[in-house]
Amino acid sequence: MIIGIPKEIMHDERRVSATPDVCGRYISLGHTVLVEHDAGEGAYFHDEQYAAAGAQVVPGAGDVYERADLILKVKEPLLNEQTGLHEVDMMRPGQVLISFIHPAAPANHQMVKDLAKRGITALTLDGVPRISRAQSMDALTSMSTCAGYKGVLMGANLLPRFVPQIFSAVGMIKPINALIIGTGVGGLQALATVKRLGARVYAADIRPAAREQAQSLGAQIVELNVPDDAAVGEGGYARALSKELLLLEREALAARLPEMDLVFLSALVPGKLAPVLITEEMVKIMKPGAVIVDISIDQGGNCSLTPPGEIKTVHKVHLVGIKNIPGLIPESSTSMFALNMFNLVNYLVRDNALVLDEEDEIVRGILTTHKGEVVHQGAREAMGL
Ligand code: NAI
Repeated sequence: MIIGIPKEIMHDERRVSATPDVCGRYISLGHTVLVEHDAGEGAYFHDEQYAAAGAQVVPGAGDVYERADLILKVKEPLLNEQTGLHEVDMMRPGQVLISFIHPAAPANHQMVKDLAKRGITALTLDGVPRISRAQSMDALTSMSTCAGYKGVLMGANLLPRFVPQIFSAVGMIKPINALIIGTGVGGLQALATVKRLGARVYAADIRPAAREQAQSLGAQIVELNVPDDAAVGEGGYARALSKELLLLEREALAARLPEMDLVFLSALVPGKLAPVLITEEMVKIMKPGAVIVDISIDQGGNCSLTPPGEIKTVHKVHLVGIKNIPGLIPESSTSMFALNMFNLVNYLVRDNALVLDEEDEIVRGILTTHKGEVVHQGAREAMGL
């Protein structure tokens, strides 16, 4: 197959869908790889490295979209403000796209309908199910790992004080208290990272399995007063809490917030808006100079004051709502993303053709548009189809 790697056009996006090393792997399997000029520059992967791996470096996105059978991207198709062309309009019927598409998000509905209308088979990476055999293809998990690591470092950087215990000639300085709320993939990575920096770590999650993992990484558990049977749903995922339970959880958190220096928010119920766990009243009782990093901002945020895409100080507390955190460590995030993508492509392509077995849980989760229709269940529901 001819695989196309365009340069990402989202503002400030530094990732790319394939590294030179991964291009070499596609080529060794018999594929041809076209890479747009400068596509990897933001992640420090240069044209010469792609060429040395055997890829054809082509001057513009047009060459990639025209010739490729399979387009691999990081972010969903967007309007290219420089050329005035939408990436969907650069694609042709029968072409296959694999990318993060977030098809249920209202902002993407028209673009997804356009993909269907144009006869593109689009597969979304955010639909890869969290099951063991799909782990190596799960780019969302990789990106949460990046967000947990870099997010908590950004928080530590904003603090007005040392993170670890420091012994100095003027006496001992105490370590900070860090509270991680929602210890899934992102939260656990944040926890491990800030623990390594020397913080005293606390963790809260409504799922007992998540609490156990946090504890095994050295965190003290903050009890949330939420019964386990109300917290865990199908497949072991968290459930959305009732209003009453959410109030109880906020009460339990409020009792501990005044001692915390750094609060990392990464609580999410799959497919839902993020639960609001910290209200404005709760921010007011925090220490002046404390920091809240809210990585659930794409789903609305776990704190009602988190500024989307920005860092702001409200009631003397720094609130971080930066969105594309993995893009801030483009080399690591690209390397992980590119390998997840390679494993998925390898899984789907047999004898040089894409095989879509709609009985397969992985295919069902990711298939977004096919044969002129929007087929993604979550997107169809969100669109009212
Ligand atoms: P995950 O599903 O692995 O973890 C979420 C955790 O939240 C689960 O352990 C769940 O039990 C817990 N949770 C749910 N409701 C809760 C409640 N009421 N109280 C306490 N805990 C609760 O999710 P993952 O992959 O760690 O992602 C976390 C968030 O980070 C998501 O919102 C995701 O979109 C976001 N993210 C943000 C990025 C960025 O650049 N800002 C990049 C990658 C992920």
